Amino acid sequence: MAAGGAPAVLIEVFGCQMNVVDAELVLGRFAALGFARSTAYDDADVVVFTTCSVRGHAEERVYSRLGALRRWKAERPGRVLAVMGCMAQREAQRITRRVPHVDIVCGTRDFPALPDLVERVRAGRAGPRPLVLVDGRERPDAARRPEARLRRRQAYVAIMRGCNRACAYCVVPGARGREVSRPLEEVAGEVQALVAAGVVEVCLLGQTVNAYDGQERGAVTLGTLLRRLEGVRGLRRLRFITSHPASFDADTLAAMAESSKLDRFLHMPLQSGSDRILKAMRRGYTLERFRAVASRVRALIPDMRFGCDWIVGFPGESEEDHGLSLAACEELRFVQSFVFKYSPRPGTFAAEHLADDVPIEVKKRRHRELLLLQERISLEENLALRGRIAEVLVEGRSRLDPAKWSGRDAAHRIVVLDDDRLAEGALCSARIVDATALTLFGEVESLAEAPA
Ligand code: SAH
Ligand code: SF4
Ligand code: F3S
Repeated sequence: MAAGGAPAVLIEVFGCQMNVVDAELVLGRFAALGFARSTAYDDADVVVFTTCSVRGHAEERVYSRLGALRRWKAERPGRVLAVMGCMAQREAQRITRRVPHVDIVCGTRDFPALPDLVERVRAGRAGPRPLVLVDGRERPDAARRPEARLRRRQAYVAIMRGCNRACAYCVVPGARGREVSRPLEEVAGEVQALVAAGVVEVCLLGQTVNAYDGQERGAVTLGTLLRRLEGVRGLRRLRFITSHPASFDADTLAAMAESSKLDRFLHMPLQSGSDRILKAMRRGYTLERFRAVASRVRALIPDMRFGCDWIVGFPGESEEDHGLSLAACEELRFVQSFVFKYSPRPGTFAAEHLADDVPIEVKKRRHRELLLLQERISLEENLALRGRIAEVLVEGRSRLDPAKWSGRDAAHRIVVLDDDRLAEGALCSARIVDATALTLFGEVESLAEAPA
């Protein structure tokens, strides 16, 4: 119970940025019902998990955290434990069997109803538990309340949900359903409201965000949206994730080049450098096609940098295939890589039809090799920036040294600054004086604008 007697809700976010948005949407509704937000389990009357199913490891973490909440639940009668997100959608029945103290399971299109359901449970009006809702049709984003946010100066905005692709290894299409874009003006209105509430950087979200169509099939693209948002005064920076290499259209690329707000960093996963593996993954492109897209982007936007996701140890991946991934990483000069060990997911094509035949030690070694290569490339790229001027948006205190500030440059690189004049949300020009693979260190040259 929070001060003042309001019931308190604690939300734990697992998985990707879409879950951050979903958590914010749910928190907004809880706030409207009179709940306070808590970050301490002892104070919480309600705990909500937003879960992820993308790898086996992600699910095991959730099960172990849920198991640990048995005591919390028993300690005080009336406490409510709820699970939402992709895992809730995919395996509601298994969750209720494995974790009998869970009260509510809400799928990826049902969760807007979750806070009201919690209210009913607390009032003893919900009937027998667990309550399972996994076949909803709601449009969760339409009810966004800009004031309920987990971060102050930056915001995620979901511009589409679901995925129409069918990568052989991936649970997302099953967990999030078919693609549905939000209408352009709805998104623009939300961004405007967020900026009015103090947000300076917006990250547009979609599983294949460059397939955005504003429900207008061809008449509207991600490019149309970028142009619309370019006109939002007070919005300083704009990003979008995740792009699929085969989904870019010429108009979107042109709008990206025109934008003064767009980050010079594009997250566009290749997954593997081997055409044989890309085909088995059903990714829908070859290395040559990926190269061509990257070249087109670089021709239009010479300072664009790329980030990548990789899966090592996909079924049938040979040493030679792995070598092709290393070579591609080197050739394309990615500045950031998330590397994942293949995890067979029940219900996916790969798990049902392809043997998980790369031994775990081999997966681990390939994982390490790609990460080490990425570290070397990142260090080379970062050291080359010494002496350059970067425009930095300050995000908050540095995690390594709370006496210093940490921000991001226009290519989304972390820049650490030591200057008393700074504050969260400040924008400044800084000279880069030193670098590691993950961090740039700068000295403030001039302060662009005091934070509001
Ligand atoms: N929509 C995004 C990916 C979302 S999942 C895209 O298409 O790029 C984030 C990342 O998790 C993927 O890019 C992939 O690298 C990894 N991933 C997904 N399923 C996986 C699995 N079964 N095993 C290992 N990694 C996986
Ligand atoms: Fe999964 Fe592929 Fe869709 Fe990305 S594009 S969410 S990897 S199916
Ligand atoms: Fe995980 Fe679902 Fe995101 S599976 S990565 S939370 S879309």
